Amino acid sequence: MKTNKPLLISFEGIDGSGKSTQCKMLYHELLDRGYGVHLYREPGGTKISEKIREILLDRENVEMSPVTEMLLYFASRNQLISEKVLPALQRGEIVLLDRFVDSTIAYQGYGRDLSLESIRKVAEVAIGELTPDLTILVDTPLDTAEDRMDHRQLDRLEAENAEFKERTRNGYLQLAKDEPHRFLLLDGRESIDVLKGIVLERVDQILGRLT
Ligand SMILES: Nc1ncnc2c1ncn2[C@@H]1O[C@H](COP(=O)(O)OP(=O)(O)O)[C@@H](O)[C@H]1O
Ligand SMILES: [Mg+2]
Repeated sequence: MKTNKPLLISFEGIDGSGKSTQCKMLYHELLDRGYGVHLYREPGGTKISEKIREILLDRENVEMSPVTEMLLYFASRNQLISEKVLPALQRGEIVLLDRFVDSTIAYQGYGRDLSLESIRKVAEVAIGELTPDLTILVDTPLDTAEDRMDHRQLDRLEAENAEFKERTRNGYLQLAKDEPHRFLLLDGRESIDVLKGIVLERVDQILGRLT
C-alpha cells in the first residue's frame, strides 16, 4: 500500500445529481493506484449509522421534526467518524464520503429552514474541527436530476417537493461560494467521463502536494 498523508474528500449534491457515480469512480481509481482508500455513504457506513439511516429515510416517518432529523444525521455522522473516518486518517489513508456536513447545512438549514447557527453548534459537538480537504459539489438542475432518478424507489427526503429541493440546491451553491478553496463546483450536466477527468485532475494536484 502506498503511504501518504491523510486526505478527506466529500461529495455533495442533490439526489440524482451524479455524486455517487463520481465518488465510486474515484474510489476505484485510487484503489487501482495502490492507495489505502475508503468510501462511506452518509447517513450510514457503520452498523449503528445504517440503523439511523433506516429511521431517517423511512417514508412512514412523516411526523419527524426538522430538529430530530438534523440530530439524527449528526448522530450517524459522529458514529461514522469515531469508528471509521478518524482511525483511517490517523493511519494516513484517504477517506471519500458520499455526503457529509454540507448536506445537513443544505437540506436541514437551507431546505428545512433551521438556523445555520444551530446546525453549526451541533456540528461542533458531533464532528469538532474535522473539515474535508476537498468537497466536490455536483450541481445538477432539478429536472435533470429527477430524470436520473426515474427508476428509483424514492426515500423520505427524495420524495420532498420541488421547492425544498430547489432551496437545497441553492444552499449548496451558496456554501461553494462562501468557501471557494474547499469546493470544486462541477456542472452535473457534463458527461460522466468529463466530470471524472476534472475530479482526477484536482485530486492529483492535492496528492502531488502531499507526497
Ligand atoms: N454526468 C452524468 N450524465 C448522465 N447520467 C449520469 C451522470 N452522472 C450520473 N448519471 C446517472 O444518473 C443516475 C444517478 O446518479 P447517482 O450517481 O446515483 O446520483 P446521486 O448519487 O447524486 O443520487 C445514475 O443512473 C447514473 O448512472
Ligand atoms: Mg447517491
